[in-house]
Amino acid sequence: MATTKGKNLFTPGPLNTSRGVKEAMQVDLSSRDQQFMSCVTYIRQTLLDIAQVTSEEYTVVPLQGSGTFCVEAVLQTTSPRVGAKVLVLSNGAYGCRMVTMCECARVDVDVQSFPEDQPLLLSKVEEVLASGEQWTTVAMVHCETSSGVVNPVEAVGRLVRLHQPKAAYLVDAMSSFGVIPVNMRAAGVDYLVSSANKCLEGVPGFGYAICRKEHLLSCKGNCRVLSLDLAGQYLTLEATGQFRFTPPTHSMLAFTVALREYIEAGGLTARAARYQENRVILVDGMKKLGYTQLVPDRHASPVITAFHYPKHPQFVFKEFFNKLVEKGQVIYPGKVTIADCFRVGNIGQLFPDDMRNLLFCMEEVMKEMGLPVPLP
Ligand SMILES: Cc1ncc(COP(=O)(O)O)c(C=O)c1O
Repeated sequence: MATTKGKNLFTPGPLNTSRGVKEAMQVDLSSRDQQFMSCVTYIRQTLLDIAQVTSEEYTVVPLQGSGTFCVEAVLQTTSPRVGAKVLVLSNGAYGCRMVTMCECARVDVDVQSFPEDQPLLLSKVEEVLASGEQWTTVAMVHCETSSGVVNPVEAVGRLVRLHQPKAAYLVDAMSSFGVIPVNMRAAGVDYLVSSANKCLEGVPGFGYAICRKEHLLSCKGNCRVLSLDLAGQYLTLEATGQFRFTPPTHSMLAFTVALREYIEAGGLTARAARYQENRVILVDGMKKLGYTQLVPDRHASPVITAFHYPKHPQFVFKEFFNKLVEKGQVIYPGKVTIADCFRVGNIGQLFPDDMRNLLFCMEEVMKEMGLPVPLP
């Protein structure tokens, strides 16, 4: 499928999307239109299929807004109004964001922090989970997009089930779902969250939680915010096929096409292979230009890579960034606290030639800035 790109977005979202995905939004449908309701049904079932779980055990609940809204909805919905206590296992900005969400909701929260350039350390995770404290929800991020590090969802899940059998296990798989597989059942994941505009390559507009039904149904009445009540959203969807409030119709039509394209192109295996090829080209090329990665290859995702700022007086990130934008290439500022970094994503409608072109543009920009190529 050809793309109609403006700039190339080497970011964690919004991402470049295919022409077919964009064209799908040319139709105006009412929320009660049968075509739209079928599209919602198709999306919910296809996401279950991609997650390789059954509709007997799990359900997909889409929610308007960006991915953050959906993570917040899970935290709100799984936290009883009295006695809630959340544990966040955090090694980056998106873990920290979950802590902030709990604080905003005045939900008691503990955080166990880990270094930003490494995965969660299982021995420490076990020590905390087995400490005798009980949590109502244990939450972690699968691919910490702030660094690109991949966390061990299944190994943590086994520990959660062993030591915190009553807790809801929430995984923020925003930037990994559809590319880095997770066996939700084996890992005991109760809630896995992602959004339309990540590895499945839709446009922004909604997120979704893949929820274990039994747990979700036990959460009725918990949510302190009407619009984020995932149990309420689920019950209304089941009863009427409708969202509770104006649905993101165009975004969902686009996502239907994005899912079809994902499946036709070979599903998770093919998407992961393309992203991995993009990343290999990127990392090899960056190495040749003299850049170093924050996260070692063995912990890195095929989604986004953080590179250290070069230690050269001529390197000013803002100038580097702006000059790349002038050439149609959008990279992303860093989001870790331990080092000065910038990030380059390689998801969305980006292909090996796009990665090579980015590297070519970077070399040109470096020369324009008076930086040596390669860097010393
Ligand atoms: C792991 C992770 N969690 C949460 C979010 C927040 O998603 P959004 O920006 O769609 O609200 C992102 C965004 O990139 C992410 O990568």
